[in-house]
Amino acid sequence: MKKLVINGGYPLSGSVKISGSKNAALPMMTACILSDHNITLNGIPDLADVKTLITLLDSMGMKTKKNHKGSFTFNASEIESKFASYELVKTMRASIMVLGPLLAKHGEAKVSLPGGCAIGARPVDLHIEGLEKLGASIEIKDGYILASAERLIGSTYSFPKKSVTGTANILMAATLAEGETEIGNAACEPEIVQLGELLNSMGAKIEGLGEDFISIEGVENLEGAEIEIIPDRIEAITMIIAGIIAQGELKVENINPLHIQQPIELIRQCGAKFEIFEDSLFLKGPDTILPISFETNPYPGIPTDIQAQLMVLNTIAHGDSKIKETIFENRFMHILELKRMGANIGIDGNTAIVRGVSKLNSAQVMATDLRASAALILAGLIADGKTIIDRIYHLDRGYENIEEKLLNIGAKVRRID
Ligand code: EPZ
Repeated sequence: MKKLVINGGYPLSGSVKISGSKNAALPMMTACILSDHNITLNGIPDLADVKTLITLLDSMGMKTKKNHKGSFTFNASEIESKFASYELVKTMRASIMVLGPLLAKHGEAKVSLPGGCAIGARPVDLHIEGLEKLGASIEIKDGYILASAERLIGSTYSFPKKSVTGTANILMAATLAEGETEIGNAACEPEIVQLGELLNSMGAKIEGLGEDFISIEGVENLEGAEIEIIPDRIEAITMIIAGIIAQGELKVENINPLHIQQPIELIRQCGAKFEIFEDSLFLKGPDTILPISFETNPYPGIPTDIQAQLMVLNTIAHGDSKIKETIFENRFMHILELKRMGANIGIDGNTAIVRGVSKLNSAQVMATDLRASAALILAGLIADGKTIIDRIYHLDRGYENIEEKLLNIGAKVRRID
């Protein structure tokens, strides 16, 4: 199993270019099922999750053409299979987002339940509830979602709690439903906004993107489109934190500052200095890092996907901090590994209490999920000596060429078997 070896203690400097957003690319790839025309997505990151979804779509009969690095054209006019197997879905839970488009376009779907994952049970009951409101008949049998609908009928569905991929599924399904659909308590993440923008450029009639309340007027069919994927805001913040804790002076390119406003305002509290430009920023890490307490929230709040990375910053801050995880019930696995590196962290329910220490010690550690693996890399960058991170297949799901990016800004990192 591949490992990452990091020799810590080196300051980072130079510039790093952020890749396209994984969580924008995945739903937009499933949206291609809704049309019989060519949809070209540019800036798709080269990630394991993207490869898995292409494998799934191809297994259904999607025609996929790679134009050049990061640019793919999808054509769903010859899709035959409406089946998403457990083998594929269990490795990439976002596969659940084929459910809404298959139901809307083909009136049927057999999609494996994703099953749990390290950070929580992550049920898909709200996806199912929403699609039933649109008139789908859904049965759960042998671990699969068996769904059918003559034609989906527009309706009103209000999410009892915000769900990013849940909103994506209902939004996509509603574009071809008969009549008007209203989604309440919708996810406002930039990735969902761009999904809606793609759908509208395909001929959908969606209003309220980015708001809690989205309305969709169903249409008979959707056309072709082309779009450039937004930058990955989670990778951007991960790199910003790397620059700060490694006492760096770093330029971070290909970002959308509007998508990371609250995280930047929070991170300023640690003493970091930022110069922000239209699609990039320059940061200077402080000599003394001050602790930053926060809780995770749906967009535009502090994303749960940067909680582990911000915790690493707090492990070497001058003082105590509190981190409350409000989205997932088990997203503290990285704490055990950070404590093995000398961090002083206590857990009280869904709140972590971090007491800053002068430095972290290198160790052999194990990644448990995508963002925890990023946090362990950050810890390795600042720990004395050689940190070895195992199970980095988690990392490859969501960070494109991360070693190359880190090497180019002065980190000492390499991959070994
Ligand atoms: C998306 O997951 C992201 N994944 C996650 O990023 C991200 O952490 C999460 O949103 C929250 O922002 C993609 O976009 C591919 P949710 P998703 O539905 O949609 C509960 C990463 O690192 N819930 O917004 O699966 C759920 O258990 C990944 O890139 C239900 O109870 O998350 C959670 O507690 C990790 N029933 C909360 O809602 C449902 O039917 C939010 O989940 C759906 C969700």
